[in-house]
This record gives sequence, C-alpha cells and structure tokens, in this order.
Amino acid sequence: MSQTNRRWIFAKPPEGRIGPDTFRLEIAPLPVPGPGEVLVRTLLLSLDAANRAWMMGKTYRAALQVGGVMDGFAIGEVVASNSPDFAVGDRVEGSLGWQLFACLPASALTKRRADVAPELLVGALSVTGLTAYFGLLEVGRPKPGETVLVSAAAGAVGTMVGQIAKLAGCRVVGTARGADKGEWLVRELGFDAVVDYTQPGLRRALAAACPRGIDVFFDNTGGPVLDAALTLMNVRGRVACCGNVSQYNVDKPGPGPMAVPGLVVVKRLRLEGFIVMDFFDRREAAEAQIAEWVAAGKVKAVMDTLDGLERAPEALIRLLDGGNRGKVAVRM
Ligand SMILES: NC(=O)c1ccc[n+]([C@@H]2O[C@H](COP(=O)([O-])OP(=O)(O)OC[C@H]3O[C@@H](n4cnc5c(N)ncnc54)[C@H](OP(=O)(O)O)[C@@H]3O)[C@@H](O)[C@H]2O)c1
Repeated sequence: MSQTNRRWIFAKPPEGRIGPDTFRLEIAPLPVPGPGEVLVRTLLLSLDAANRAWMMGKTYRAALQVGGVMDGFAIGEVVASNSPDFAVGDRVEGSLGWQLFACLPASALTKRRADVAPELLVGALSVTGLTAYFGLLEVGRPKPGETVLVSAAAGAVGTMVGQIAKLAGCRVVGTARGADKGEWLVRELGFDAVVDYTQPGLRRALAAACPRGIDVFFDNTGGPVLDAALTLMNVRGRVACCGNVSQYNVDKPGPGPMAVPGLVVVKRLRLEGFIVMDFFDRREAAEAQIAEWVAAGKVKAVMDTLDGLERAPEALIRLLDGGNRGKVAVRM
C-alpha cells in the first residue's frame, strides 16, 4: 500500500464561478488510524451540485473550511481498522473527501455490500437515487395521469426523477440545456418532452410541453425555470423544492420570483423543501425498490465517470456547466 496520501484542498473561496484555482492538490503522509478509527481507501468519489453550495456558507451542513480537504461523499474500502465494527476489505460509504485515503471515526461510516457495483452505491442506491425517490413520491406525490416537470432533467437526480415518474404513470417533461440532451432524454429515458430552458420563450415552450398544466414540479434549479413553471401549475399542484443549482455558481443569487404569493395562494400550491436524510429511516426499503427497478431494466442508472483523483475539480466544474449526463463520479 502507498505510504502517501494525495488530496485536494479547498484553497480559495470562489467569487462567482469556481475554477481550477479553487482547489490545490497536496501530497501528505498516509494517515494512521487512532482508537475507534478506520482507514479507508477511496474507490469512487461522488461529485454533486451541492459541493458548490457548501462553499456559500452554512446549508444543511457546516460550510467548507478554507485550507481543509475538499469534502465529498464516496465509496471506499477499509484498509485498516481500530473498530470492532469494521474489518479490512469492508465496503463503506461516507464523507471521505477528495483524497485517496481517509481516516474517520467508525461512527462516520456506513457499511455497504461488497457485491454491488460502486457505481450503483454512489448513484442510484445512494443520495442521488434516494433524493429522486423520496422527493418525488413523498413530497411531490404524483398520481397516474398527472404531469410532472423536472428541472436539470439530464443530471444525476433529474434522470432518476423522470424515470420514476414514468413508472408512476405520469406525463414527464424535463428542462435541460441544449437540443442534444433533450433528444437523449426522450430517446433513452422515456421522457415525453424536454424544453431547452436556455432558448427564448421558455414559458411558451413549457406551456406547449405541458398542455394540461403542471401537477408536480420537482425543482432542482430554481431561477427562471421555477419562475415560468409556477405560472403553469395546476390548482393544488405540488412543488418539491430539491435544490437551486442556477444560483450556486454565482457571486450573488438573483432575486426570486416576484409573483409567488399570488400564484401560491390562488392556486393553493404546496412548495415543500426537503433534505433526503429526513427519510433515511426508510432508506432500506427505498433502496430495495430502486435496485429492483434497475435490475429489471425499468430504471437506467446513468453514470458519467472520469478516471483519476486529479480530475475531481474538472468533474465538478463540468457538472456545474451542464457538461454531464447522469451521475458524475471520479474513479480512483
Ligand atoms: N434536497 C436534497 O436532499 C438533495 C440531495 C441531492 C441533490 N440535491 C439537489 O439536486 C440538484 C441536482 O443535483 P445533482 O448533484 O444531481 O447535479 P446534476 O443535476 O447532475 O448537475 C447539475 C445540473 O444543473 C444544471 N444547471 C447548471 N447551471 C444551471 C442553471 N443556471 N440553470 C438551470 N440548470 C443549471 C446542469 O444541467 P443543464 O445544463 O442541462 O441545465 C447540470 O447538469 C441540485 O440542486 C442539488 O443541490 C438535493
């Protein structure tokens, strides 16, 4: 085993968009686990839009510390353990960070099955898939025949939401940047229509794609898509507020929709934010259901994987620029 660790440091808080200088690659000695600690070798690092939101201050977790190892969820393998709960060779998940090796207290790790592909453990069967599952089914509560709109539809969460909404018997419309992504979502993932939100006439295009209005809006982006979607919501529509990626990679977030009170009151809308961890007491059953769908070919777990720790900053920059299709991960 290598005696050195390589890790990305969160070097410089961004002003506006993140760039290569946001991070610094560092070589450090291999950490030695203390009492109750476990040394984990990273196998597959998850890149998430939320990584950028953590740089903006406190969110559902503490803000990132400048000079610290860049945080990130990952799947790893135990290489040394001072805890009775973990043995060498165990597959684990946790906030391992952007590094080859992480030393963490056993309580910060969750054991995963070693016979399941790391790609599934990082995406469909973890935060990404569970966010789509619980956010859509528990917060959005779609009924067969209803229209579901999902923003950032070609991304990690969005691709899962669209496919689960189809299984729920809904008309599924997405928003994504560029005609290519739209064609791909319709052809490969069964979306009924996709609107390119970067083109002029967004509201008109959404209205044409949702001729019976919108019953459930799974919102990953906020911004102009939320603005336009609110005007097309049906009475007693539900907005599952999952994220706000249009406002993460900017210096100052733009103003929110001005007409919210009128729209929300008159249409009796329910806008409900959620954090996936709220539902983790039911994680096992949800994972089993998603695994069954994936095994039966009913849901495609779309991966967008890059090779090498060195590429982690590039992977996050690309994700925020919309260069990804599906779940972005970096294989060590
Ligand atoms: N609530 C929770 O518990 C929870 C858990 C996980 C994730 N999330 C949220 O879920 C959302 C998706 O996250 P993800 O990790 O799956 O990322 P992702 O969707 O794979 O990637 C982000 C996508 O955002 C889109 N985007 C970038 N800039 C945009 C802009 N200005 N306006 C509209 N869209 C823009 C890009 O696609 P296009 O270029 O095609 O638009 C890009 O592919 C994020 O808001 C994240 O915070 C929430």
